[in-house]
Parts: sequence; C-alpha cells; structure tokens
Amino acid sequence: MKKVITYGTFDLFHEGHYNLLKRAKELGDYLIVGVTTEHYDLQRGKLNVIDPLLKRIDNVKNSGLADEIIIEDHEGQKQEDIQKMGVSIFVEGSDWVGIFDYLKEYCEVVYLERTPDISSSILRASQYPILQLGIIGTGRIAPRFLAEAKYVSGINARAVYNPHEISARKFGEKYELEYFFGDFEEFLQHVDVVYIASPHQTHYEYARRCLERGRHVLCEKPLTFTVKEAEELYVLAEAKKTILMEGIKTAYCPGFMQMMNIAKNGTIGEIKDVEACFSRITNPRLREMVDEEYGGAFLEFGSYTLLPIFKLLGCHYESVEFTGISARNGIDLYSKIHFRFKNALALSKTGIGVKSEGQLVIAGTKGYILAESPWWLTKSFVVRFEDPAKVEQYSPKFLGDGLRYEIADFVSRINGNEKNSYFLTKEESIAMAGVVERFMESRKEKVFCWGNM
Ligand code: CTP
Repeated sequence: MKKVITYGTFDLFHEGHYNLLKRAKELGDYLIVGVTTEHYDLQRGKLNVIDPLLKRIDNVKNSGLADEIIIEDHEGQKQEDIQKMGVSIFVEGSDWVGIFDYLKEYCEVVYLERTPDISSSILRASQYPILQLGIIGTGRIAPRFLAEAKYVSGINARAVYNPHEISARKFGEKYELEYFFGDFEEFLQHVDVVYIASPHQTHYEYARRCLERGRHVLCEKPLTFTVKEAEELYVLAEAKKTILMEGIKTAYCPGFMQMMNIAKNGTIGEIKDVEACFSRITNPRLREMVDEEYGGAFLEFGSYTLLPIFKLLGCHYESVEFTGISARNGIDLYSKIHFRFKNALALSKTGIGVKSEGQLVIAGTKGYILAESPWWLTKSFVVRFEDPAKVEQYSPKFLGDGLRYEIADFVSRINGNEKNSYFLTKEESIAMAGVVERFMESRKEKVFCWGNM
C-alpha cells in the first residue's frame, strides 16, 4: 500500500484545502493528514488561527478524503511520522516549494500547485474586518507594542492619544500612524480597540471610558488599584459585550502555559511552594524611581511574580504579608510578599534598586521546577527530582519579545474565538488588584525599612 502524508492548519476549511487533499489522495492508496495544534501554531508564529483544533479535524474528516488524521504538535515530527508510518510520499502546496526537501531522505516529496485566489488568510480578512487600534500613552512600552502588533494579522495600529497633544504628534509622526490626538473623544471615534499604556494610576479611568463607549480594551498592568474598580470594569465589559484584558505578557507566552500545566499535572507531586523573583537595577531618573506615589518595584514587576502564584495555588490565600526596603522618597526598591495558602506557601520578590537571582521555583512533594531569568518569557525550564540524575529539560519556542502572543489572544477573543481566556482569567486579574490594594495600604502603614538612596 502506498501511503501519502500531508500537513496543515486547515483553518476555515476552504476549496484550496479540499483540492490539495483530493490530489494528494490520488497519488497513493492511503492518505494521512496531519492537523496542527494551537500550541504548535503559536510556537511557529502562526497567530490568529480562528477554528479550534477539533473543528479543524472535523472539517478534514468531513471532506471524506482522509483515511487517517493525526495531530502535529512539534517540530521534527514529520520525519518521525514518515518513518514510523512507512510513508511513501510527502505532499504540500506549492507555497512550500523547497522547504521540505530535507524529507527526501525518507520518502518522495511532491509540491502540488496551490488553488489560486483562496487561503485561510484571505477568508480571515474578509470574515473578520481589520480591527483599528488606538494607543493611549506614548511611554516606553508603546513602541515595543507597535513593533509586535505588526506580527499579528487582523489588527492595524492607527491612532495614538496623549493629553499633551504635542507628545501624541511626535509619537504619531515617528511611528507613522494615521492619526494622533490630544482630544479623547475624537480619538475614540477613530478606533475600535484600545491599548492602554498610560501611567498606572490612569488605567482605571481610561479603561472605564473606553468600555462605556463599547471599545475593546487591552490594559497594561496593573489594571486597577482596588478590587472594586477591577470588578466594576469586568462587569462593565460584560454589559457592553466588549473584551477587557489585562496585559501581563507572561500569561500569554506559549512556554509559560506549558510550564504551568506540567506543574499541575502531578509530575512534581503536590505543589507546596512557589517563589518568583523579578529584579532590574533601574536608572534613578526613570518614572518608577521618582514617582513617589505610583513608582517602585512591586507596581512595576509584581504582576509577573503574582501570576504563577495565583495560577498554581489559586486566588484564595489565607494571609499575605508585605516587607521591603524603600528609598527616601518612599518607593519600594525591593519588596517581598509572603502568602500563606491552605496547603502551600508562596513568595513574590521584586526589585528595582536591589538585584537578585530572577528565577521561578515551584516546589512539590516529588520534585521541583526551576525556570531561570527571564522566566517571564519562559524560553526554558527544568524539572528536577531527589535523584540528581533525573532531569527533564524543556525549551519552548518563543518569538519576539512576548507581546505578540498577548495581542494575538486579544484579537482572537474579539473575533469570538474564546470568551473567557484561560491564559489570564478575570478572577486572577481581580485577585491581583486585591494584592495591589493591600500593598498600597501597607505602604501607608510604613512596613518598609529605609534604604540608602
Ligand atoms: N493550500 C492549497 N491551495 C490554497 C491554500 C492552501 O493548495 N489556496 C494548501 C497549502 O499549500 C497546504 C495545505 O493546503 O499544503 C494546508 O494549508 P494551510 O496553511 O492550512 O492553508 P492556507 O490557506 O495556506 O492558510 P494561511 O492563509 O493561514 O497560510
């Protein structure tokens, strides 16, 4: 029997896919079709796939052409499948000419002419009009966001707003945006979705105003300074049928979710302790060093360190305690937050004037996971056990600086792919606002000792 194999995403299954499968089948007696997982697509930089895996498999099945459907979830799998399954011919469309020639070592490689004028990308663009994005704020993160948004299809950065129109103009001109505004209402009229990258204390007010006007919101961390405000925003988003997402980029990185899943699947036993640290020695002139009210290490990096704690141990801690070292102007140069959960402990450490080992350690009853800096991008992590010889090493693929995954999830949720993102749940986001609220109170109570700056 002559086996033929082909692979694809098969998103929004179309005539081009059908034609390719039909001709592939005619080349042999038995057709195997590999359908990519979401995770693999994310890793290889194919963002914004609309149909979930099961639907894409069903569509291939319903074509009546596949004798067997398999799932493709990692690089190097094609060679494995071809050898394992005794495949004679590997087929792909002509957009891939040359790319898979390395498989000629194992079987015949055939590139079939693509069906003209149809593709998943064309269908996505026609079914889901391009979202027009506006950015609020022109600080350090905004240009990075713009650069990463270019890798996500279905969204176009169009306008920028800054209450100081001159700053908006400078930014708009530099990054070649269509519009810049110093007037908020005018700005909103020109955009469908908003990215809030303004100073921390302005997030709530901007988010509320955007949601009230029916705009989808992706808001930089911290979303708000109180639980009440965070809850209010999520209720408002639901009432207005809009998406509200907190932009903690780590949550959306493919490797981070993989690490969380491995931690929770019993590999290291029951999780008993999570220690997360993020520190960066910061230029004394920067906002986080000089803003007496809203500067400091915790407000800058705390969302990253709280994320694995809440993901792994849940949002209901029994107690929380803050300590730290502050500068003369009152901001925290270094903060330690101790949590006690029913059956576990956790520690968040953040620093902007103290440097420490920026690592994440997840300790369990059978072993532990260690992710070294920059664990918040999760490019690698190891699982270790009592037996030092037993080590599992993971190196998830990672592209760009992380923001593109967050932007892709934002777009796919707006397009109705997922109403409740599990990458960062509403509950987790509200729980973080709760810690921010208590942190601000504890600062007033002066629980921090003085530093020397
Ligand atoms: N294909 C084809 N003719 C088309 C579109 C796709 O022959 N008009 C082939 C591809 O070359 C590939 C297979 O169908 O061998 C699966 O392709 P996939 O990447 O899933 O579909 P595209 O429509 O190319 O998706 P996208 O626009 O996201 O790249």
